[in-house]
Amino acid sequence: MLQEIPVIAIDGPTASGKGTVAGLVAGKLAWHYLDSGAIYRVLALSALRRGVDLAEEASLAAMANTLDVSFSADRIWLAGEDVSLDARREETGNAASKIAALPQVRAALLARQRAFCTPPGLVSDGRDMGSVVFPQAFLKIFLTASAESRAERRYKQLIAKDLPANIADLLRDLQERDARDSSRAVAPLKPCEDAVVLDTTALSIDAAVQCVLSLVAQRGVGRIA
Ligand code: DC
Repeated sequence: MLQEIPVIAIDGPTASGKGTVAGLVAGKLAWHYLDSGAIYRVLALSALRRGVDLAEEASLAAMANTLDVSFSADRIWLAGEDVSLDARREETGNAASKIAALPQVRAALLARQRAFCTPPGLVSDGRDMGSVVFPQAFLKIFLTASAESRAERRYKQLIAKDLPANIADLLRDLQERDARDSSRAVAPLKPCEDAVVLDTTALSIDAAVQCVLSLVAQRGVGRIA
């Protein structure tokens, strides 16, 4: 059954625009949307709040198994509390990147992510959607952009949300995060062999969405809502 539900996997580095593009594509197709990074972020947030060491693999995996995370509209919930803002903070993203390098944590979160694959279809974004979580995806996109333009986009997003931001710190942090996400032993960030690489450095969000939708149409799947 899982094999029959169409999945689009959009992977890429932090602040590449993959979340925005994936959400808009899901809206156009009237499919479900999974922001897998948000699950890692909520787990990291929960660990930070409880003072759990970010290298405590077994404790973090146990927390992942019972993590009470849910999504509604644009909000992220942890045990009934709206944690959208805290989950989006840079420090939470950096902590998420650290716990995401732990194999037991990734294994514990696998079934939870796959549970989002329900009819009529799913658009998922993350680092290993096409390689590990949904290898059956009929379309795999690797969405990327230069580090400088990603830092600038992240800066604008944070400022718009009234969160603290400094462009030099953001650039350094995202380069560190790219290095950690790409060099880890399990599910490292890299384009799948069968992925279409889309560089959005000089591409608007709309153009990137159109590009993904035309690839969907070429493959004869989905109907634009
Ligand atoms: O996409 P994001 O910035 O919200 O993700 C936060 C961190 O979570 C990212 O640095 C690496 C990790 N992550 C992952 O390892 N695998 C995923 N599928 C999604 C996120």
